[in-house]
Amino acid sequence: MKKTILTGLRPTGNLHLGHYFGACKNWLNLQDDYNFYLEIADVQALTDNFNNPEKVRENVYEITKDLLALGIDPNKVNIFIQSQIKEIAELTIFYSNLVTVSRLQRNPTVKTEIAQKKELFGNNGESITYGFLGYPVSQAADITCFEGELVPVGEDQLPLLEQCREIVRKFNSIYGNTLIEPEQLLSNSPRVKGLDGNDKMGKSLGNAIYIIDDEETIKNKIMSAVTDPNKIKKDDKANPEICMVYYYHKLVNNEDNINKVCSECKKGERGCVQCKKELIEAMNNFLKPIQERRKQFEDNKVVEEILDKGTKNAQLKAKETISKVKEAMKINY
Ligand code: TRP
Ligand code: SF4
Repeated sequence: MKKTILTGLRPTGNLHLGHYFGACKNWLNLQDDYNFYLEIADVQALTDNFNNPEKVRENVYEITKDLLALGIDPNKVNIFIQSQIKEIAELTIFYSNLVTVSRLQRNPTVKTEIAQKKELFGNNGESITYGFLGYPVSQAADITCFEGELVPVGEDQLPLLEQCREIVRKFNSIYGNTLIEPEQLLSNSPRVKGLDGNDKMGKSLGNAIYIIDDEETIKNKIMSAVTDPNKIKKDDKANPEICMVYYYHKLVNNEDNINKVCSECKKGERGCVQCKKELIEAMNNFLKPIQERRKQFEDNKVVEEILDKGTKNAQLKAKETISKVKEAMKINY
């Protein structure tokens, strides 16, 4: 029997290289061997975008198209929309009795996010909503609803998984052994740095290369990427290890070219402008097949069908789980 994997994505923007190298690439390797649920977490996205429903709706389609373009196979993976599984909402309510408010306030991921969203939640988190504070509970419902055994996540998500495990243990100890305690499947791919050298590529940081970026956009972004600041002239020797252009060469170029960039840069035999031009070409070559594939899914109708199918499969599983849960809780009227 194949093990079950569940993971999710908030539909708040298109996918960038950070998503691809940090997560999706790993999912592509898993999709053959697991029973895979991939949740488009629109309800979770609304917790900090409740005032922007159009953005969330549009990105449900955008993200799904990006995932398909990257090679997620809808015949192998159930891609589904969180809001269409009402059992997740039910479970969220049931689990909310099993977690204290102070435990949620201490969740490191939630804490960091509250601090980042000052316009929404106040300078000291004084305007935090019940919904945002509680999203780890809803994420525990996402995972357990599908009896997810493995959850492939990045390190920033580990506190959420730990919180899920605590809820599962508490549920099982009170109502009897019902829920499955998930394990993390940490991807070995590191987090991708931004064009500005920041440790994280992110939409809010404005330092991302998106998989749908066109040639002109790629050119402008790479031309402004951070290089070794000590290199002024073309024949200055430099340190590629502190240069973002070299960093992206390593992600998207072939080994011969990568070695060439490195040694020429160190010897002062390479100008940054030329180096960037070569990266622009390599990046476009990398993105071209992805963008070609994305064209097949341009029509929202095609995407709707895929989401419909994934959502129907997810609904079947959710119904099984909710009946077990209601029976255990003695609310199976
Ligand atoms: N919190 C995740 C993120 O921000 C998205 C997500 C929603 C998720 N539900 C999930 C991840 C369940 C793993 C499992 O990216
Ligand atoms: Fe970076 Fe290339 Fe310039 Fe070296 S030559 S500093 S690797 S852009």
